[in-house]
Amino acid sequence: MSTIHIVGAGPGRADLLTVRAARLLARADAVLFDRLVSAEVLELIRPGAELHDVGKEEGRQEEIQSRILELLEDCAQRHETVVRLKGGDPMVFGRGAEEWLHLVERGYDVDIVPGVSSAVSVPEMAGIPVTYRGVAAGFAVVAGQRMAGRCQEWAAYAHVDTLVILMGVAQRVEIAACLRLHGRSAETPVAFIEKGTTVRERVVVTTLAEVADVDVNAPAVMVVGEVVRLREKLRERADSDSLVNLARLFEPRETHARQAC
Ligand SMILES: C[S@@+](CC[C@H](N)C(=O)[O-])C[C@H]1O[C@@H](n2cnc3c(N)ncnc32)[C@H](O)[C@@H]1O
Repeated sequence: MSTIHIVGAGPGRADLLTVRAARLLARADAVLFDRLVSAEVLELIRPGAELHDVGKEEGRQEEIQSRILELLEDCAQRHETVVRLKGGDPMVFGRGAEEWLHLVERGYDVDIVPGVSSAVSVPEMAGIPVTYRGVAAGFAVVAGQRMAGRCQEWAAYAHVDTLVILMGVAQRVEIAACLRLHGRSAETPVAFIEKGTTVRERVVVTTLAEVADVDVNAPAVMVVGEVVRLREKLRERADSDSLVNLARLFEPRETHARQAC
């Protein structure tokens, strides 16, 4: 009986892959992989495995998604170990759960292998932790774009301490305007991390007011919130004294939070 393993490939660097994912790639009979899976990770696939590049081209997503579902079933009928390899964690956007449901409904044996999501790993490897005591007590991971005809509910997210926005590069100006419209300060720092964790990583730091002035390319993770300010210190000096003193950067906000309580 064949098993289809829906596997997270992590954010790019092969050494951020889980041990379980690496073991499965080393014995896979067939692998269907997405556009965001790095060449470094693809190198870990067993030589001789059947490979399918199923990365979605802009404008052809629905057609390609139907083809992926057909291919998965076709591979499952011909092979014992089929890997569906998806960037980051397979259940964080990217339609992993839809593929899982489709296969389960048709009686296939499905195994899920979580991956390191870009949502937290890309910011943190660029020096931006998504939470920090006294600065950000929580974070939300939000899609910058939704299905055609649906708008993101920015009012619900505008006041989350740290907002991590995936797939938001093309809509970044509108997103910044909506967050400001719903009360987020124009001075709120914003970071874009392009191609995070890879040798081609590029970080652009700005504010909500100035998002329109920066040049950013997808794929990038957009981080909105005071934690972005930590980057300068964390990248500058990683010694423990400087980390302990980081909270001082945020004293006005801490005072405000105490008054609100
Ligand atoms: C369809 S979502 C998939 C997210 C993935 N499942 C995860 O957990 O990371 C694709 C988006 O993730 C973000 N992304 C994924 N890997 C990235 C990386 N290495 N650097 C920057 N952004 C990345 C970008 O916002 C991109 O548009």
